[in-house]
Amino acid sequence: MKIVVINGSPKGKDGNTNVLVNAFLKGANNAGAKSVNIYISEKRIEHCMGCHICWTKGPGQCVISDDVLSVLMEMGDADVIAFSSPVYFENISGMLKTFMDRMTMIGGPQQQKSIEEEKDLKSSNVQGPKLMMISSCGHLDESEFSVTSHWINRIEKMHMELVGEIYFSSGKYLKETPEELKEQLSNYLQLVEKAGSEIGKNFKLSDNTKKFLKENIIIRNK
Ligand SMILES: Cc1cc2nc3c(=O)[nH]c(=O)nc-3n(C[C@H](O)[C@H](O)[C@H](O)COP(=O)(O)O)c2cc1C
Repeated sequence: MKIVVINGSPKGKDGNTNVLVNAFLKGANNAGAKSVNIYISEKRIEHCMGCHICWTKGPGQCVISDDVLSVLMEMGDADVIAFSSPVYFENISGMLKTFMDRMTMIGGPQQQKSIEEEKDLKSSNVQGPKLMMISSCGHLDESEFSVTSHWINRIEKMHMELVGEIYFSSGKYLKETPEELKEQLSNYLQLVEKAGSEIGKNFKLSDNTKKFLKENIIIRNK
């Protein structure tokens, strides 16, 4: 079982979101998964030019020569792909979106057609890697993740089953935790670790873990 994280924070390893990713991967690795955490910030990734030459020449045949292909190759044998991003202006980071746009080169016109026609793309029928979303934001407001959640649920239609969403609102507390919130945060990170362990073992989250993750998006002084 292989998990590939596409880490879309410009702050990469030092980002708040990476604290969530590390906890998730710790759980997954302890459950026997092999994982790779790819920092987009360390890669050279140009914008998609929209020429669609990849759709006529074949998968991976992009006119731009940069680091995208090597990342896509790492993703090629993944069982789970986890996208991670800070919330930027109510959305995913530009860095992650730029990478996603370049994933066009592994699709084709038939994929676009399937989406338009809303064909039978229900998760249960879907083959291919499972999908996870991990994000942190600054404001104490879970609606900050509305766009991200909507987006990742739409991406699921591209033949990937969404198995979990992990959102945490008080991003700065992940790196600099006030004394009075330390226990709550530590409990929350253990929950994220458990989520990683469940994905590592069963490729899915239990209903309880999903429920607790949702209930703990915000931590604040009681
Ligand atoms: C350009 C920019 C835009 C942001 N926009 C939002 C926002 O719309 N809502 C929010 O709650 N936080 C916003 N934030 C805060 C980040 O989402 C938050 O600090 C996050 O934890 C950063 O994660 P990182 O350290 O992994 O990059 C923004 C931060 C930056 C730099």
